[in-house]
Amino acid sequence: MKIYELQKGATSLDGLVRADRPDPRPGPREIVIRVRATSLNYRDQMIVTGNYFGGPVSRNTIPLSDGAGEVAAVGAGVTRFKTGDRVAGTFFQGWISGPMVERFPALGNPLDGTLAEHIVLHEDGVVAIPPSISFEQAATLPCAGLTAWNALMVSGKPVKPGDTVLCLGTGGVSIAALQFAKAAGARVIVTSSSDEKIKRACILGASDGVNYKRFPDWEKEVLRLTGGRGADHIIENGGAGSLTRSFEVAAFGGKVALIGFLAGGKGDINPAILMMKSGAMVGIGVGSRAMFEDMNRAIEVNKIKPLVDKVFPFDQAADAFRCQAAGDFVGKVVITL
Ligand SMILES: NC(=O)c1ccc[n+]([C@@H]2O[C@H](COP(=O)([O-])OP(=O)(O)OC[C@H]3O[C@@H](n4cnc5c(N)ncnc54)[C@H](OP(=O)(O)O)[C@@H]3O)[C@@H](O)[C@H]2O)c1
Repeated sequence: MKIYELQKGATSLDGLVRADRPDPRPGPREIVIRVRATSLNYRDQMIVTGNYFGGPVSRNTIPLSDGAGEVAAVGAGVTRFKTGDRVAGTFFQGWISGPMVERFPALGNPLDGTLAEHIVLHEDGVVAIPPSISFEQAATLPCAGLTAWNALMVSGKPVKPGDTVLCLGTGGVSIAALQFAKAAGARVIVTSSSDEKIKRACILGASDGVNYKRFPDWEKEVLRLTGGRGADHIIENGGAGSLTRSFEVAAFGGKVALIGFLAGGKGDINPAILMMKSGAMVGIGVGSRAMFEDMNRAIEVNKIKPLVDKVFPFDQAADAFRCQAAGDFVGKVVITL
């Protein structure tokens, strides 16, 4: 079967090479998935450049955590799926339900990922995908979609109708959060580097956007837009570089879902601002299989269509990585097989 491998020790896209491996056969309780679509996350850029936690990959590794396809074969004792079922792998293999109690291994690093014709997973690390969405749309869910769902619906207080949700940026996590928050009856405000991207977020249902390039003090704009009240939920993709602004913009009792580090690893953080508002901050680690299944039910019931912006064929996988690294997209970049 055809695959891509990130070569051991890789620190740039030059380390991403086409390769072949034998067609996999399922062991007991394993299933083989014929991957139809796979999507990129910011994490995948960090892995390719050797900047992910733990440094460069320590062996030749199939990249990407997110993929969707159909079951091609099942091993002995498999009861959860049958050949032909439409499925996706879970980001963390082994986290079934309940709170995170250990750091489970993830697809794409340290485990082999989804940029391959076939992948083999334990049946417990697989979910059925919503019938009403395509493989491309389903490939956006395992990491970005589930992170947004966990941040809004599971960890800390859940979003409720009338809340204001602030999403930092217009990438995979933010746009999924926008879609879930709208389905829950909330108002959504986005920040972005681009007026054009803000327009696209507004078409999806955002009420307003703030261009953080033109308004470096974007928190003041968001406070103005909310009549000084602030946001009840903040999808905090910036990390240390934006946290103090997120504390400033949080409403009383607001929740800051700590997700990413796009604004850099360092910053002058003042936690007292959040404390004085009885606010809360919660760390998000993608999510469990049970959360993934809950999210999929919500997607089906609400007919949510995850936003796939750019689609590349398998042979142009490197171009997909370049597109994502350049920030030249809203929502998700997908590779089809
Ligand atoms: N904790 C977890 O479980 C978890 C899970 C998934 C992702 N993450 C992290 O969450 C972050 C977002 O991931 P993703 O996959 O959604 O990324 P992505 O799809 O690559 O989206 C990145 C987008 O964020 C915006 N951005 C860039 N720099 C920014 C900044 N300084 N401040 C605000 N926005 C900025 C840009 O959009 P605009 O041009 O519109 O600004 C960019 O297109 C990353 O740090 C990722 O590592 C964490």
